[in-house]
Amino acid sequence: MSKPKILGKILYDYDDIQKRAKELAAQIDKDYEGEDLILLCTLKGSVLWFADILKYMEHDCRIDFISASSYGSATSTSGVVKINFDPNINMYNAHVLVIEDIVDSGITLKYVMDKLAERGPKSVKVCTMLNKEARRTADFHADYVGFEIDDLFIIGYGLDYDQRLRGLPYISYLEEDDVESL
Ligand code: IMP
Ligand code: MG
Repeated sequence: MSKPKILGKILYDYDDIQKRAKELAAQIDKDYEGEDLILLCTLKGSVLWFADILKYMEHDCRIDFISASSYGSATSTSGVVKINFDPNINMYNAHVLVIEDIVDSGITLKYVMDKLAERGPKSVKVCTMLNKEARRTADFHADYVGFEIDDLFIIGYGLDYDQRLRGLPYISYLEEDDVESL
């Protein structure tokens, strides 16, 4: 099975994403200058965005990966969060910047951030590629945001529909007729 060339309505193409990742990487470099920084990639959705931020940063940071999921229907989250993979990197006295794909209700990330804070870091902040502010139910604020988006179902650039389409080199959204064609 090969990737569809274009699927859904494109919101941001590859060049838009690179441009924004460069801007945020420069901002992050400035904010953490001279500090011990860990970039923590949330699996699986953030891998492409994480790689962009990492490659455009001048700062020589440490990296690691974490995986958490919350259970519910395919397109919305329930509130029960499970950590599937927990990194054993030493965070004590380091700044941790979580690199996230999308913040929707904020339930998953709020849980992850609270857990990370127990490990003695100097700070824990978040850089998310996409922010669906209108859907927020948890008390959670994103520190760095790639793009603010409306309440749409997003695919591509790491984001999946039923574990597929993560490799699309652009960010698009699906409508019902698109889903039927899958
Ligand atoms: P939250 O806990 O509601 O903020 O949802 C967190 C996770 O749900 C994200 O990290 C994604 O994995 C997934 N998610 C939320 N919105 C979308 C979307 O529009 N497309 C694909 N996955 C999404
Ligand atoms: Mg995620």
